[in-house]
Amino acid sequence: MVRARSSSQRHSDPPLLATRARRRGLPWWGWGLLLIALLFVVFLVWAHRPAIAAEAPPPAASFAPAEVAYGKDLAAVGNCISCHQAPGGGKPFAGGYGVVSPFGTIYGTNITPDPDTGIGRWSYLAFARAMREGVARNGSHLYPAFPYDHFSALQDRELRALYAYLMTRTPVRAENRTNGLFLPLRFRPFIAGWKLLFFRPAHWSPDAGQSAAWNRGAYLGEALAHCGGCHTPRGRLGQELKNKPFAGAFVEGWYAPPLGSTSPAVRAWTQPRLAEYLATGLSRSHAAAAGPMNAVPHNLATADPREVAALATYYARTLRDARASRAEPQLPDRAEAAARAHPLGAATFAGACAACHGEGAPMMVQDGRPALPLGSPLHEDNPADTIQIILKGLAPPLGRTGPIMPSFAASLTDAQVAELVGYMKARWGTGPDWPNLERAVGRARKGKAP
Ligand code: HEC
Ligand code: HEC
Ligand code: HEC
Repeated sequence: MVRARSSSQRHSDPPLLATRARRRGLPWWGWGLLLIALLFVVFLVWAHRPAIAAEAPPPAASFAPAEVAYGKDLAAVGNCISCHQAPGGGKPFAGGYGVVSPFGTIYGTNITPDPDTGIGRWSYLAFARAMREGVARNGSHLYPAFPYDHFSALQDRELRALYAYLMTRTPVRAENRTNGLFLPLRFRPFIAGWKLLFFRPAHWSPDAGQSAAWNRGAYLGEALAHCGGCHTPRGRLGQELKNKPFAGAFVEGWYAPPLGSTSPAVRAWTQPRLAEYLATGLSRSHAAAAGPMNAVPHNLATADPREVAALATYYARTLRDARASRAEPQLPDRAEAAARAHPLGAATFAGACAACHGEGAPMMVQDGRPALPLGSPLHEDNPADTIQIILKGLAPPLGRTGPIMPSFAASLTDAQVAELVGYMKARWGTGPDWPNLERAVGRARKGKAP
């Protein structure tokens, strides 16, 4: 009995204690929630960036004309306008172009010096912080659709000139568009989490073993022109994979081909050929710049030609080890076999394309345009560029009125485009056949990678 009693006492004590503790404090899951809330507050405090005081817009006369002119050049190399001007008649730098990301659309903002809707009240320090750290004047984090991961390497001389150029533009009153983002991502402090994982501010230091032109091209190309923003593949969270520089990537349903050892180009991209392509949008040895690449030479055409030559020097070097040899390529033309395999494609080509691209067509003979198989699209490991060019057509390079390649999106069905692409690949292409072409055309129409 004694034993039983003592044991019942021993067993009844702990529950009593536990009830008392429960009455006094939190259950375990309460502590868990509290811990999460605490960590979240710590995160918010850590992610907080102070606002930089608004200032009266600086008078245009306070900037030296030479600095403004240098800034104009840099803005062209940096392609600022292609994200900061709305398509179809938007005002320059007033914002409104939607950058499409897997998480939704993020709109370029108004960076004219309008005091209320633009950056008119931003001091130079606020501007430099945005460019280097991706933080707006009011302290909020900016989405990495704005390529500050590249701009962070810009030095004061370049940032001051860009600031001088932007602050002397005509102010435009235009409210920023609301981003079309998946809900939790609209909460800007989350961007700080992304930065913690992936953003490493870049620092520029010249390579003493290289020429001055190479160093200038590397600085402009990596820090300002952000060529890697399109040509370097990205991970699931949109971060550039720095261990695969210029290895090729999909942009808006197009393919920005590799600019390194895996370049699909059949002719070597030498410095003079690249300089021509980047400055005019048309390389007579290769092809015209199409799709998202079209805007790059449109901007570079207005920049200092020496800067464009430097970019070409740098990228000619990254392309040096490409599989294309310096000798003239032997281009295959398997016309009969291709027509037997794709009779419908052959007929479409003869009817819709040969007037411009067929042998002896005036466009090629009189205007000296390169033959179709000299361009990279038919030698890429995916059909994205060939399909997109057919669907969208091509605007002529800057300062020329033609010839224009029309868009075939409305006149050809998915099946017809697929047949046509299959025919062209079989006739002139290199590498394995492209599978599932019809599906790829359907996806291309929606701006998606094959
Ligand atoms: C690839 C597209 C892209 C390019 C190129 C680009 N920007 Fe932007 N920029 C953006 C986007 C998108 C935002 C808005 C980000 C956000 O809302 O978080 C932005 C924001 C900014 C901001 C912050 C403004 C604000 O209202 O918060 C500044 C300043 C800026 N860009 C300057 C430039 C300059 C200067 C260049 C050229 C050297 C440039 N950008 C090139 C996409 C781009
Ligand atoms: C907005 C995205 C974007 C940016 C920025 C960009 N490119 Fe491109 N680039 C593309 C796309 C897409 C293509 C393929 C379309 C085509 O063939 O015209 C391409 C094609 C090219 C080609 C042709 C390659 C070949 O073998 O046919 C070269 C060379 C090139 N880009 C160099 C550059 C350089 C140098 C820069 C920076 C100054 C740059 N690109 C910036 C998207 C971009
Ligand atoms: C009115 C003339 C015209 C017609 C018709 C035309 N194109 Fe083009 N095409 C051009 C021009 C101009 C270019 C750009 C300059 C260049 O690369 O030679 C071009 C470029 C291309 C390119 C990219 C060149 C490259 O190598 O990167 C492809 C691919 C192409 N066209 C396919 C076609 C197909 C397929 C058709 C028929 C459905 C067609 N084109 C019809 C004028 C035309």
